[in-house]
Amino acid sequence: MLLFTATILLSLVHHVTSAANVTSRTAPVGATVLTVAVIGDYGWTGWVPSPDNFCFDVLPTLGAAGITVPNEVVNDCDPGDKQYITNATALQTDTAAYVGQICAMKNCSAFLSVGDNFYDSGVDFTTAGILRFQAAWADMYTQGVFKYAPWYQCLGNHDIVPGQPGVDFQTKVAPLYDDRWYFGTEQLPYYTYDLVGADWTATFVVVDSDCFLDSYQKNTSVYFNPYTTACHNTTQTQVNFLNTTFANSNATWKFLQLHHPYASASTNETDLAPLVEIVAKHQGIVINGHDHCLGHFFLNNTNFILSGAAGYPQAGDCNNGTALGPYALYLGANNLTAANGFVTLDISKQTINVEYYARDMKFEGTDLYPVECDLKPSYSFQITQNSI
Ligand SMILES: *[C@@H]1O[C@H](CO)[C@@H](O)[C@H](O)[C@H]1NC(C)=O
Ligand SMILES: *[C@@H]1O[C@H](CO)[C@@H](O)[C@H](O)[C@H]1NC(C)=O
Ligand SMILES: *[C@@H]1O[C@H](CO)[C@@H](O)[C@H](O)[C@H]1NC(C)=O
Ligand SMILES: *[C@@H]1O[C@H](CO)[C@@H](O)[C@H](O)[C@H]1NC(C)=O
Ligand SMILES: *[C@@H]1O[C@H](CO)[C@@H](O)[C@H](O)[C@H]1NC(C)=O
Ligand SMILES: *[C@@H]1O[C@H](CO)[C@@H](O)[C@H](O)[C@H]1NC(C)=O
Ligand SMILES: *[C@@H]1O[C@H](CO)[C@@H](O)[C@H](O)[C@H]1NC(C)=O
Ligand SMILES: *[C@@H]1O[C@H](CO)[C@@H](O)[C@H](O)[C@H]1NC(C)=O
Ligand SMILES: *[C@@H]1O[C@H](CO)[C@@H](O)[C@H](O)[C@H]1NC(C)=O
Ligand SMILES: *[C@@H]1O[C@H](CO)[C@@H](O)[C@H](O)[C@H]1NC(C)=O
Ligand SMILES: *[C@@H]1O[C@H](CO)[C@@H](O)[C@H](O)[C@H]1NC(C)=O
Repeated sequence: MLLFTATILLSLVHHVTSAANVTSRTAPVGATVLTVAVIGDYGWTGWVPSPDNFCFDVLPTLGAAGITVPNEVVNDCDPGDKQYITNATALQTDTAAYVGQICAMKNCSAFLSVGDNFYDSGVDFTTAGILRFQAAWADMYTQGVFKYAPWYQCLGNHDIVPGQPGVDFQTKVAPLYDDRWYFGTEQLPYYTYDLVGADWTATFVVVDSDCFLDSYQKNTSVYFNPYTTACHNTTQTQVNFLNTTFANSNATWKFLQLHHPYASASTNETDLAPLVEIVAKHQGIVINGHDHCLGHFFLNNTNFILSGAAGYPQAGDCNNGTALGPYALYLGANNLTAANGFVTLDISKQTINVEYYARDMKFEGTDLYPVECDLKPSYSFQITQNSI
């Protein structure tokens, strides 16, 4: 019986590999104004951290015995993240409903991800990875506008902890698993796509910013693995890709979409300068995550849009709401907490209307971040200078 079932399954697998190419969904073409949502740092649901006795007692014993512990296992003992998981899961769910509500109102046609799709240690092609993909993304974003809208995906630091197998799952397996998951056409961790309107075009370049950080190359970093070592060695490939794509595009708007922040209220990742120089040269726009809060920064004549708060918000990432300088134009945080939320871009020929939606965080009888009317944006600005 068991053998019989396995035979059927194998023939199904064979059938799938020989079928016509599956193509991910893409955003509709030809709108005068196209609304898309920028979302990041969300995928907590279904994460089961290791138990305390393992993290506090067994892990140090293994280390002392000279046993190599996989980075995924070390990372799944992160004390802060272990503490957050219960609230983080509830906050991801509540924020998903909020994003769905606003996007139904605004008719969002696509989601632009800025990474950290799966806490704490990404997903790879294992049953555990499949269960996480299903819980934290596929089953989380299903209702209303989520049903058909594509997600233009991007890798964050949590996504690359498993190294190449984790990257392969998100770039190669996931697009075939669910046609809303878009990861380019070349199965690489960096890619480009265009959103095309009635009389305008927007060129997006997605890169894996994990490759750029020198700090991830320390052998004590949980992000140090053969994938990051190799791609750190070839960051010029991604820089050239951005440079060539922007140079060959005469789009109205040019965006760099990545996980880490060059401009931040906590850590400015200056290793990203070679990318930002190119964006500045083309009068482009940066969308990023990593800091768990909403923010707008203006630096090097460039707008930096931070959307990173669709999971667990952290006020410290936005310096508890206090700007460190005039480059920080908006921080969705106060001295107690940061807001969950996301950003919408209403893209047209003349202007991009950027709206920051901070959620009124009623939670277990309290309100973690009161917003009087969270169906309206808490902050907005317009970009009128076209890219070149
Ligand atoms: C599927 O994609 C491969 C590689 O891009 C291409 O060679 C092949 O012709 C495609 N097959 C179909 C049925 O579209
Ligand atoms: C939503 O926007 C898309 C793209 O412009 C358009 O094709 C579609 O008709 C709109 N839907 C509604 C309900 O307005
Ligand atoms: C979780 O949320 C509750 C409020 O319902 C709060 O009291 C608690 O401190 C939160 N825990 C963490 C780790 O943020
Ligand atoms: C880690 O790097 C340090 C130097 O940066 C080196 O001394 C040490 O041997 C390395 N450890 C391992 C396990 O490779
Ligand atoms: C980096 O790239 C150079 C040249 O392509 C190669 O010789 C070297 O082995 C690479 N180093 C690592 C750590 O991948
Ligand atoms: C970008 O490309 C231009 C040519 O289009 C070249 O002059 C420039 O050096 C390149 N910049 C980088 C950083 O590669
Ligand atoms: C880009 O330039 C080419 C040639 O001038 C033109 O045909 C095309 O319509 C332009 N595309 C956009 C989006 O402006
Ligand atoms: C941004 O401007 C500062 C000075 O204002 C400069 O030091 C830095 O190199 C610039 N960064 C980029 C990416 O051009
Ligand atoms: C933010 O507030 C928290 C709690 O009050 C405090 O521990 C932390 O040091 C503050 N961080 C900054 C950057 O001010
Ligand atoms: C980040 O960069 C801004 C703008 O250059 C600067 O004002 C701020 O002090 C920097 N933050 C840190 C923590 O270095
Ligand atoms: C936090 O902000 C509130 C409202 O702005 C203010 O009343 C309070 O004094 C602040 N607390 C601290 C510790 O800064």
